[in-house]
Amino acid sequence: MTSAINSSSTASTDTSRISISAHYTGYVWYKHGLSAPGFATGMGRIANAALTPINAFLRLVAGADIDIFLLQRHSVIDHQVEALIQEQGVEQVLELASGLSPRGYRLKQKYPKLNYIEGDLPGMAARKKALLDEIGSQPNHSVLPCNILEKSGDQSIKALLSQLDPNKKTVIVTEGLVNYFDLETIKTVWAQMAEGLKQFPEGYYVTDLYPDFVHHPSYKYVQFAQKLVGFFTRGQWPLHYRSDEAIKAGFQQDGFKEVAVHDPAEFYGKLNLPEVKTQTLVRIIRTSI
Ligand SMILES: C[S@@+](CC[C@H](N)C(=O)[O-])C[C@H]1O[C@@H](n2cnc3c(N)ncnc32)[C@H](O)[C@@H]1O
Repeated sequence: MTSAINSSSTASTDTSRISISAHYTGYVWYKHGLSAPGFATGMGRIANAALTPINAFLRLVAGADIDIFLLQRHSVIDHQVEALIQEQGVEQVLELASGLSPRGYRLKQKYPKLNYIEGDLPGMAARKKALLDEIGSQPNHSVLPCNILEKSGDQSIKALLSQLDPNKKTVIVTEGLVNYFDLETIKTVWAQMAEGLKQFPEGYYVTDLYPDFVHHPSYKYVQFAQKLVGFFTRGQWPLHYRSDEAIKAGFQQDGFKEVAVHDPAEFYGKLNLPEVKTQTLVRIIRTSI
């Protein structure tokens, strides 16, 4: 298991190799009109062009491609976060590993009073901060260096949570992060989140998760996509849990009380997201402590 003891990044907690994936997803959000031009990078454009034939092949043989599942997860996460703001009175968002995602930018435009903190590894956080400064960042919207594997120190989840008002309802959001870690490692991170959220009157966590659906009709293409992501990010991309029930039980074990597991297909016809005939591959988890 990855050990993460202190605040300075050691070899075992340096996962900056993963940051390239943010360029790919950032470009997908931009290409589909979810973002502003500044969020698209040259690297993202090249990575998207490189994967265009692979995506076309996946659509042909599996009925869906990588971008479809990215757009599905992005839209359902947005929906869950907005529901928490509108229906539960959440006033603070801590989005971890936000990369080049425009979610904070978009939500701050829609809900100017929201306190929004984005966290990512130092290099990506500096890039995102510069980008937001250039676009014209809003008050109460900041980007801080964070390493989710650090259990203490300035870059830990605990440190970022301490920047928020303990009297306000708060949600932590992650997208495109958790499958880069083995289950044992990410479960310790989830347990820290659950513990940290206890300081707020209400605490929520929203994330996507790619489960290990071994009986999915396109499982062999899933394994192919898994290798592709692993190749680009020079590491593993493990799938977690084999059913929605197992996901629920896992999060409860980590300290979350209410756990809802959403299939993007539930939102077909209701949200703006691509619909596919094949079974979906991603789940959106909304938990509360
Ligand atoms: C696939 S990108 C997702 C970015 C964004 N959430 C999105 O959906 O577009 C993964 C992100 O995780 C960040 N990351 C990788 N390891 C991390 C760590 N240990 N702590 C915090 N962020 C990390 C990367 O820098 C990158 O921005």
